[in-house]
Amino acid sequence: MDTTAETECCDECSTSSSSPASLPTASPLTTPELSDNGSDFESELEPLPSPLPLNDVNRHNTEARSCQPPPMPSNRFVLVIGGLGYIGSHTVLELLRAGHNVIVVDNLSNCYETVLRNVTTLIEAHCQANGTSPPLFHFHRLDYRSRAMCLLLESYSDLVITIDASGKQHMTYSSRITGVIHFAAYKSVLDSIKRPLQYYQNNVCGLVSLLQRLDAYAIHNFIFSSSATVYGSKANSGLPLREDDLTHDSSPCSSTVGLSCPYARTKYFAEAILADAAAANPRWRIVALRYFNPVGCDPSGLLGESPRAEATNLYPILSQVLTGARPALDVFGTDWKTRDGTAIRDYVHVLDVARGHIAALGWNTADNNTSEKSGGAGGFRAFNLGSGSGTTVLEAVHSLEEVAKKSIPVRWAGRRPGDVGACVASTERAQRELGWVPREGIAQCAADLWNFVRKAVKPAQ
Ligand SMILES: NC(=O)c1ccc[n+]([C@@H]2O[C@H](COP(=O)([O-])OP(=O)(O)OC[C@H]3O[C@@H](n4cnc5c(N)ncnc54)[C@H](O)[C@@H]3O)[C@@H](O)[C@H]2O)c1
Repeated sequence: MDTTAETECCDECSTSSSSPASLPTASPLTTPELSDNGSDFESELEPLPSPLPLNDVNRHNTEARSCQPPPMPSNRFVLVIGGLGYIGSHTVLELLRAGHNVIVVDNLSNCYETVLRNVTTLIEAHCQANGTSPPLFHFHRLDYRSRAMCLLLESYSDLVITIDASGKQHMTYSSRITGVIHFAAYKSVLDSIKRPLQYYQNNVCGLVSLLQRLDAYAIHNFIFSSSATVYGSKANSGLPLREDDLTHDSSPCSSTVGLSCPYARTKYFAEAILADAAAANPRWRIVALRYFNPVGCDPSGLLGESPRAEATNLYPILSQVLTGARPALDVFGTDWKTRDGTAIRDYVHVLDVARGHIAALGWNTADNNTSEKSGGAGGFRAFNLGSGSGTTVLEAVHSLEEVAKKSIPVRWAGRRPGDVGACVASTERAQRELGWVPREGIAQCAADLWNFVRKAVKPAQ
């Protein structure tokens, strides 16, 4: 019998194994090999003021308890990479609320471990209120590019023996990970101009290794965090952006123009790589979700946007002005062709974005994502996640002033190079194919954000 698993995980890490017994066993959180020691990327990480030692993190492994059984089989998981960040943590919360077992991988490079505690608190309260059992929730503090990722994937895999037509036996992997949502990336436009190579390394090179590793463990249901920035200067058309404004095939609209920074290029390259991978291997089911401007947070006020890096998006800056951390908001450009002269963006509630991921996972699993059914390139399909309507900078300012009952000082500044006047999503494809409809408007986004900020920071008097 050929007992060699026919898999070459990645260039750095051959997992061809003639010794299945050496696999890490059931309780991955307590598997010391899975810590990030030996990561090739440690030097990039900030020293972490880890509020919890690893043993305490293990307590967040919320194994199923009493009450009703969870809807998901208890040995199946969704892997969320970058799952303690802003959008990731809300998506993890929604996945758990929907009964999915979740594995989170995050190296805490742009988040704090308190997020883990807060998600756990919220999901336990949710399950208690509904009389349901908490799904499984595993956390691994890892750089997703590190070799430890192979061990992690292996620890959630079973070896399966198959027999081919000639009677020869083969060992392959069958994973208990039914889908992967990949949020982990660096995301600052300005920082990407200063540190392009780190951005290409994390956002592009890391993705390539990850895909190889997932393929080796027969995990092919993949959801990728893309961005409206991939549309580049096509946003200037003044029309809602449609997914077909940027495709990765040879159709006339496929080309991209005016990608304004390395960050935007990393998202464009990543999508192109994903489309090529799906075209070459029919087992892939890949969805790229092009987020417009996720804002707001869970209404509990326990979860929000609290990055280590400096916030550069409009709403986090507005809340800093409200709390006195910044003196005023700089408004870049007051002469755009918009209703009040300030730039228009499409703000979408982060919980709507989170629900978009669950819709995409289900859509992939139902095997809609094939060339024949979706008209995509192989098993690759892009969807916009936006609200479908535009808000000017001044309207955004007013939305927060309204809920905070305070005025926000603004300073008028000139246009920045590379900025566009309006960028709004067409959400028609996501509505039609995923059945996804954004529920919340800008007023709810502002109310939820202010609720979080009030709880997190004592406002300046
Ligand atoms: N927030 C937005 O406005 C926005 C808009 C469009 C697209 N996106 C994309 O969505 C994704 C999530 O965005 P976010 O706002 O939640 O960002 P975030 O920085 O809050 O979350 C990213 C998470 O990934 C983790 N991470 C980064 N590199 C990692 C690595 N190598 N290994 C393990 N973990 C790593 C970080 O610690 C962080 O928790 C990103 O890919 C981003 O580019 C965000």
